[in-house]
Amino acid sequence: MAQSLHLLLSIIFFPNLIRFSSQQGISFVYNGFNQDKGYIHLDGVARIHNTDGLLQLTDDTTLQKGHAFFNRPFDFGSDQPLSFSTHFVCALVPKPGAGDGGHGTAFVLSSSMDLTQADPTQYLGLLNMSSNGYQILAVELDTVKTAEFDDMDNNHVGIDENSLHSVVSASASYYSDREGTNKSLTLLSGDPIHVWIDYEGTLLNVTLAPFIIDEKPRKPLLSRNINLTSIFPARKAFVGFSASTGTLVSYQYILGWSFSTSSNSLKSLDVSKLPTVPHPKMIRKKTSPPLIILMVMLALIVMAVLGGVCEYRRRKYAEVKEPWEKPYGPLRYSYKSLYKATGGFSKDGRLGKGGFGEVYKGTMPLGGDIAVKRLSHGAEQGMKQFVAEVVTMGSLQHKNLVPLLGYCRRKGELLLVSKYMEGGSVDQYLFQDDKPPLSWSQRLAILRDIASALCYLHTGASQVVLHRDIKASNVMLNGNLQGFLGDFGMARFDDNLSATAAVGTIGYMALELTSTGPSTWTDVYAFGAFMLEVACGRRPFDPEMPVEKRHLVKWVCECWRKGSLVDAMDTRLRGKFPLGEVETVLKLGLLCTCIVPDSRPTMEQVVQFINRHQTLPDFSPDTPGIGVSTPVLTRIHSLAITSASETSSPSVSSSSANNSMFISHTIIYGDGR
Ligand SMILES: *[C@@H]1O[C@H](CO)[C@@H](O)[C@H](O)[C@H]1NC(C)=O
Ligand SMILES: *[C@@H]1O[C@H](CO)[C@@H](O)[C@H](O)[C@H]1NC(C)=O
Ligand SMILES: *[C@@H]1O[C@H](CO)[C@@H](O)[C@H](O)[C@H]1NC(C)=O
Ligand SMILES: *[C@@H]1O[C@H](CO)[C@@H](O)[C@H](O)[C@H]1NC(C)=O
Repeated sequence: MAQSLHLLLSIIFFPNLIRFSSQQGISFVYNGFNQDKGYIHLDGVARIHNTDGLLQLTDDTTLQKGHAFFNRPFDFGSDQPLSFSTHFVCALVPKPGAGDGGHGTAFVLSSSMDLTQADPTQYLGLLNMSSNGYQILAVELDTVKTAEFDDMDNNHVGIDENSLHSVVSASASYYSDREGTNKSLTLLSGDPIHVWIDYEGTLLNVTLAPFIIDEKPRKPLLSRNINLTSIFPARKAFVGFSASTGTLVSYQYILGWSFSTSSNSLKSLDVSKLPTVPHPKMIRKKTSPPLIILMVMLALIVMAVLGGVCEYRRRKYAEVKEPWEKPYGPLRYSYKSLYKATGGFSKDGRLGKGGFGEVYKGTMPLGGDIAVKRLSHGAEQGMKQFVAEVVTMGSLQHKNLVPLLGYCRRKGELLLVSKYMEGGSVDQYLFQDDKPPLSWSQRLAILRDIASALCYLHTGASQVVLHRDIKASNVMLNGNLQGFLGDFGMARFDDNLSATAAVGTIGYMALELTSTGPSTWTDVYAFGAFMLEVACGRRPFDPEMPVEKRHLVKWVCECWRKGSLVDAMDTRLRGKFPLGEVETVLKLGLLCTCIVPDSRPTMEQVVQFINRHQTLPDFSPDTPGIGVSTPVLTRIHSLAITSASETSSPSVSSSSANNSMFISHTIIYGDGR
């Protein structure tokens, strides 16, 4: 009677969906769980979505379990052969960005619907470590490899009898009828999966297929003898689903479910009516801000590093370029090329350190060896004019001028590039023991070279170019010991001296420099001092020397007065020199260093005299203005030296104007000046 009522009720209220009957058992189909959800018993985090009836077993919270049971037990009956068939569509959706997901979903037959004492994680919400209060048979879709249960991998299907140790398991795959081969399947792909479970007699078959395949594959994935009555002695069980999360999480859904106690009456799922699996976009949004922040920060760091590198390179190689420099383009070197040529201005390549700055040797990839002079300068004013002059000088061509190749400008710095002279500077040969002493003929040849170069600067170029700092260290030699005049015009670039101060080097500076400034006469004076220096192998002014020898000009004149000019000569020459040439050079040196500018020869005349094309004018050591030492014009030495030496300087300075008038009539040059 009760059974008939049941049947009647089923037919009235659930015309096609659900049937209970002792003869025909249970049969139902859920295409989504919106309808008849009253028959579904939920616990844990399981819920049915109101909108589309999607059954969600777990969400992305950790260590949770969810259960869904059909709330009427499946009664095995007494004698007829036991069977059931079920077909469901599930989806296991990984949490975006979380890597792996877990733990798994199981179809379960259980003697009890109350699995609330079961554990999540690897227990899949089915059992706990010690549970023995109820019986289960489960088909697990396990996405985590649990060593404790001898899981084969993290993508397997297993049959469990009262234990999570599967009695049989296999990697998720399906048999493709069309291709005749097994194809693997990813449980945790987020895509829906068909699962068929069939039991007849004692054989339990489990068959999987991807959602796109709508026919159940002919061959099952698992096929195993199971004695249901021995598992469930009470001969009834509830059917449903269990799923769990651990520290690994995934969204686990059942889209549709059909069940029948006889395979013949199993209703097929209507695939078109199944709810869609939420693509966890919303969830991604919810979960990704930290990720986005991380990515943005990473990008910012990368950009900052790149920017820093760029900025570092930009600063490292930064140059100053202005529109007015355009015409000088070909003469401009990039700082980068100079930096590379000199090996980053390494100490090893440093040739010297002068008053102007440091000089480095460099090698251009194509242009051979160069010398790079780094001049520091604070002021930008006067730069334009200076560069213009430098460029003009670059256009000067003489076989005895060190070729100026170009320049480069940076903030607070000017770099001048000239040809590298392998012989070094003359002062090294005169004063350093590591260089061989120069013979007289070599010295004379160098003096002639430099006279010729200076003469060219004064007369040969389109405009008069003053050198301003002739001295032994500015005279360079090539491998054949030919002389080259370098560094012309640079003297005034010395930062250490104020703009108004006379510029030059002690001992080479004519007295009138302080009053009338530089002229061709002051260049001639310096050349005279240089001649004496080369011949005598002594610096023009040497504070170490006894007083009478301290000023070279004075000492040479003194020797001449005593009738032994040769005494002044460099002892390293060991007297090996023709007397006539020596006399010419020393006397010419004295003539050039005459304290009266007008009485000095021009460079053209110097060239004539030194080559002995013309004889020197008549003068003696007693000719006024000859052999007079000039006071030492330096800030450092001025006090010490002038007070230490008895010196004729004061008288010379005061009398120089008078002498000038007098002497200009005394020395008569051949050209009738
Ligand atoms: C395991 O489950 C059983 C019920 O099946 C319960 O009595 C027991 O307390 C649970 N054990 C733990 C450790 O939760
Ligand atoms: C289970 O699969 C085997 C083939 O592997 C088949 O012979 C048997 O009929 C299947 N049983 C059910 C209940 O589908
Ligand atoms: C396919 O898989 C089943 C179950 O794992 C196995 O028994 C069968 O041999 C496989 N067939 C092929 C063609 O690999
Ligand atoms: C199944 O188990 C029950 C109870 O343990 C037993 O009586 C029955 O013979 C078994 N059936 C088979 C086919 O082994």
